[in-house]
Amino acid sequence: MTHLLTAAMPRDAAIALLDLAEDMHQIQDRQVKKLPALRGRTVVNLFFEDSTRTRSSFEIAGKWLSADVINVSGKGSSASKGESLRDTGLTIAAMGVDGVVVRSGSSGAPALLADWIGRPVVNAGDGTHEHPTQALLDAFALRRRIHGDAARGKGLDGVRVAIVGDIAHSRVARSNALLLPALGAEVTLVGPPAFLPPGAGPTRLGVRATTDLDAVIAERPDALMLLRVQLERQTGAVVPSAAEYITGWSLTDERLARLGDEARIMHPGPMNRGLEISSRAADADASTILEQVTAGVSVRMAVLYSLLASDHPSSADGGSR
Ligand code: NCD
Repeated sequence: MTHLLTAAMPRDAAIALLDLAEDMHQIQDRQVKKLPALRGRTVVNLFFEDSTRTRSSFEIAGKWLSADVINVSGKGSSASKGESLRDTGLTIAAMGVDGVVVRSGSSGAPALLADWIGRPVVNAGDGTHEHPTQALLDAFALRRRIHGDAARGKGLDGVRVAIVGDIAHSRVARSNALLLPALGAEVTLVGPPAFLPPGAGPTRLGVRATTDLDAVIAERPDALMLLRVQLERQTGAVVPSAAEYITGWSLTDERLARLGDEARIMHPGPMNRGLEISSRAADADASTILEQVTAGVSVRMAVLYSLLASDHPSSADGGSR
């Protein structure tokens, strides 16, 4: 692996990363959370969009691996003075950094940066395109909930996951729709017509899509992943009002009761409680929301280690993007 730009990867590669994340996860139980693997390496977090958990967990991941981590945000950097992404990237690369983690509002920006700077690039979310580490951490948290400490080596075979909400604008949905089926899961995308990808039915992502959340709940899915309505990305589509959205697509207390105790409740955050998810659902025992956040550190440690550790076999193989 040279870069991590997409969640589209073979099953074996995904399981290898999840297993490496299991190794990293053990550090959570230690008092001294520090491994020497990336000592002397420098990672820049280049964030052109707001972020709480993704940016801080990449920072924690880098620091727990002993890398030097520098945060550069769009606001407050020369990008706000009109500097192009290419010039910003080349400037950072010229300082001798070893890897760049980038979040951008522009779909495809991380792939361009990867071509320009000749250093490993990790996509931390690009526009409405992809968010591969989010999909990996979702898979990690779900696999752990299902298999516990015996998760290593396993996929998500036969696990039925419904992803509910603003699918069309969600890089989280897109990356999960690529990764989870590779691990053997069955994914259903659920949302109002305006939020489903064009041509609902078997969508271009190759997974099932439907507008009927209640029918999906009646099928008793193994996991229900709620997404935030991304008001900042709406482009004039006829979107439902908050009241309509809650009636049709929110995980309300009433739907929670119908869902049963077995289904895990997931959300990548940030949540809008009372809109896409009720507070009772967010705080239920079945909720994996904070486990997903914890998993984010372990998965991002695994990704940084794979890309940057000199003793990792894939770091110099010029392999997949
Ligand atoms: C998501 C994102 O930014 O893509 N959040 C995250 O990274 N955990 C989803 C969102 O903004 O709703």
